[in-house]
Amino acid sequence: MQIFREKDYEGMSRRAASLIAAQIILKPHCVLGLATGSSPIGAYRRLVEGYQNGELDFSEVRTVNLDEYKGLAPDNDQSYRYFMQDNLFSKVNIRPENTNVPNGLASDDAAECARYDAVIHSMGGVDLQLLGIGHNGHIGFNEPASEFPKDTHCVALTQSTIDANSRLFASPELVPHYAYTMGIKSIMMAHKILLIASGKDKAEIVKKAFFGPVTPEVPASILQLHPDVVLVADEAALSLVEL
Ligand code: GLP
Repeated sequence: MQIFREKDYEGMSRRAASLIAAQIILKPHCVLGLATGSSPIGAYRRLVEGYQNGELDFSEVRTVNLDEYKGLAPDNDQSYRYFMQDNLFSKVNIRPENTNVPNGLASDDAAECARYDAVIHSMGGVDLQLLGIGHNGHIGFNEPASEFPKDTHCVALTQSTIDANSRLFASPELVPHYAYTMGIKSIMMAHKILLIASGKDKAEIVKKAFFGPVTPEVPASILQLHPDVVLVADEAALSLVEL
């Protein structure tokens, strides 16, 4: 594992954006696995700047997002599809048909999960998977469990995740309790993984995930077994780790 220790959120975002930009330049038709949450917003902003400066071309890039809330329409401003449109897709020259997010309005969970796995498979897998990390160690919405869920599945969110994400909703009752998420197998099959973490509130889980035992109770700990993981974190998020 390679670790980049950056000063703050801006430094983390700059580094993450550079690594994603390098992937796009190296392979213009790459498949990017993308994440939502507050962690990647700064990196997306820098990628948009790269496009505006003429340094980056997204015309052949294909994307597959990690997850989506069940029950939210794409135009709901709390949906992850909306987040991606707002923070990245509508601001660069990516083709809409090359972007993929699970369908939050699917009526048949099993069919939607199978469809999403088939999409990932048809793209030939993910070249670079961007990940944030939840306070309980979740990646995507793969919550702590007794085993690692392999494929795309519909998950009941834990109370800690519902509480953490309620800050983004008008009221806590509006936070969906279920989500579709890419499974651990699809994440682990990505050629390269880039996990970003910022802030003191992530220090404990960064330590557990990358320096503790590999266990499905801390889903991100499986990344220790991946051959090409880059952790980009700021000083606060790495404050409990001796490097
Ligand atoms: C959500 C998302 C994750 C994200 C996590 C952390 O639950 N499903 O993909 O990594 O939250 O979010 P943040 O970056 O806002 O801390």
